[in-house]
Amino acid sequence: MTFLELAKSRYSVRKFTDQKVEKEKLDKILEAGNIAPTAKNIQPQRVYVIQSEEALKKLSELTPCVFGASTVILLAYDKQTEWTNPFESEKGIHSGVEDVSIVATHMMLEATEQGLGTCWVNYFPNSKVEELFDLPDNEKSVLLLPVGYIAEDSKPTANHESCKSLNEYVKYL
Ligand SMILES: Cc1cc2nc3c(=O)[nH]c(=O)nc-3n(C[C@H](O)[C@H](O)[C@H](O)COP(=O)(O)O)c2cc1C
Repeated sequence: MTFLELAKSRYSVRKFTDQKVEKEKLDKILEAGNIAPTAKNIQPQRVYVIQSEEALKKLSELTPCVFGASTVILLAYDKQTEWTNPFESEKGIHSGVEDVSIVATHMMLEATEQGLGTCWVNYFPNSKVEELFDLPDNEKSVLLLPVGYIAEDSKPTANHESCKSLNEYVKYL
């Protein structure tokens, strides 16, 4: 499969089976995240793998977006070490969210390669989840990534195919 074929085969999965993700598959997903580029290679990402029944249940009480996945990866970053654009100081880009987003994207695509589904989730109460999992004060949560085997009747939502055409937003200067 080419990279484009792999990327096109991914869609946001919102229904998973109970089947657990094997450790070998999870390790590959984590490794794919680990080789992602980050600003100045600081690697401010923090990764929490949520798998215990108790933790999944508590998380599901805070957001509807666990979707029955047996594994949820919580991605956060260290606010003290993220890169900050020196040209713009406070107003400039802070790289934490960007770094974590690239890590998560690598993970999503590796999960696809492993025949697993994922869904990027921002719809959760960050502070409450940080409190639930006892994240240190210097860490900011960014997204949840439910990972698992795709339910037989899962299908992409209607908007999955609706990509703008390139000439709507690409400008050659
Ligand atoms: C930054 C970001 C945040 C998202 N947050 C959520 C979310 O909280 N819940 C959800 O069900 N899907 C969420 N999604 C999935 C998008 O809705 C989905 O990617 C988009 O509708 C395109 O569909 P597709 O992923 O199937 O191609 C999010 C995606 C991104 C990139």
